[in-house]
Amino acid sequence: MATLVNKRILLGITGGIAAYKSPDLVRRLREGGAEVRCVLTRAAAEFITPLTLHAVSDQPVYQNLFGEQPTSEVVSGGEAKAMEHIELARWADAVVVAPASADFIARLAQGRADDLLTTLCLAADAPVAIAPAMNQQMWQNPATQSNVETLRRNGLHLFGPGDGSQACGEVGPGRMLEPVDIARLTAGLFESGELEGLGVVITAGPTWEAIDPVRGITNKSSGKMGYAIAAAAAEAGARVTLISGPTALADPDRVKVVRVASAQEMYDAVHTQVHGAQVFIAAAAVADYRPVAPATTKIKKKSEHLTLELVRTPDILASVAALTPAPFAVGFAAETENVEANARTKLAAKKVDLIAGNLVGVPDRGFEAEDNGLLLVEATGVTELPIQPKTKLARALIHHVAQRLAARRGQTRERA
Ligand code: C5P
Repeated sequence: MATLVNKRILLGITGGIAAYKSPDLVRRLREGGAEVRCVLTRAAAEFITPLTLHAVSDQPVYQNLFGEQPTSEVVSGGEAKAMEHIELARWADAVVVAPASADFIARLAQGRADDLLTTLCLAADAPVAIAPAMNQQMWQNPATQSNVETLRRNGLHLFGPGDGSQACGEVGPGRMLEPVDIARLTAGLFESGELEGLGVVITAGPTWEAIDPVRGITNKSSGKMGYAIAAAAAEAGARVTLISGPTALADPDRVKVVRVASAQEMYDAVHTQVHGAQVFIAAAAVADYRPVAPATTKIKKKSEHLTLELVRTPDILASVAALTPAPFAVGFAAETENVEANARTKLAAKKVDLIAGNLVGVPDRGFEAEDNGLLLVEATGVTELPIQPKTKLARALIHHVAQRLAARRGQTRERA
């Protein structure tokens, strides 16, 4: 089942009587696990108040293109901060406009950017869907139909409209779909099917190398990136196994999760699970060294100095890349400088297909941050995935890997 867990939905509301259903739609999207921010056009505010939408979304409500604070700053006592429209577009995993009026559809089809919502639709790199709602004559008018066709050709998704009795007393096509159906279709936007039927094994999180029964060596990896990659791979249709070190994160939907602690346990779990998988992604921050002989009882502080002897842990990624046949192997390189050069060295040393280099040790990026950017280094070249929420970044990485696998399959077919 498609899911909205961890999805950021920008809900555009335009001027139409169906806007009375918008608070219900916000609730349905949130029940599915989404975070929802509402953007109202000027006409929408004639039908529904920002106050109501703020109350049900628990998020700022946006109305203006220029300079002004989100409306909820006024209504919620000033907790929300103003967000530039481009940032808001970047924030969204999907933009859904419901209801979408005939006028809004016409403006969007012309590529206008004369208010906040049209500007966001143009600026968004995420999928955009519209749920039309209008009188049946207006819907069937050739002008509306050709505008909708233009939008469809441009890659926008169309939710509905439904057929039936209308607020104006007429009967016919043009009714906005019910909120429950719009929420279901919104979840479906994320189901790319790009990895349908393929097996993907992912490592995530830190490892824990015991010093004694209560102490250990670990690191600050939150696991967020690996978990987001697992969720994105499941959305792409893959059979996903996530081998996770200790994290505070919930299991992603539709993912088999194997919890481990040490690097050795992670190594063993990976080699049990990886056979038959087409993709292996090593997002875990694996300890490089572990104590040679962990104490079986708690170490007491008796002497002034304590020496721990450490030994190297097995390199899980390199060991998987050395299998025959080997899955498409992806590793990460968290670097404080020279990301590309270091990633290239790692690509050769571990004999993997792709190293995703990322800059750490700078504020708001890397281990514990919500946002990150990646430099995908391959033998054939470099692709930059710009800084964005980790969930979106994970989807972009999975899309990239899916394209590489598709190209490989194409080459294999050509050779056969
Ligand atoms: O060698 P280094 O730790 O810099 O390489 C990082 C990459 O290798 C990451 O993808 C990490 O998950 C993987 N790795 C591994 N096993 C190790 C060390 C690193 O799979 N023992």
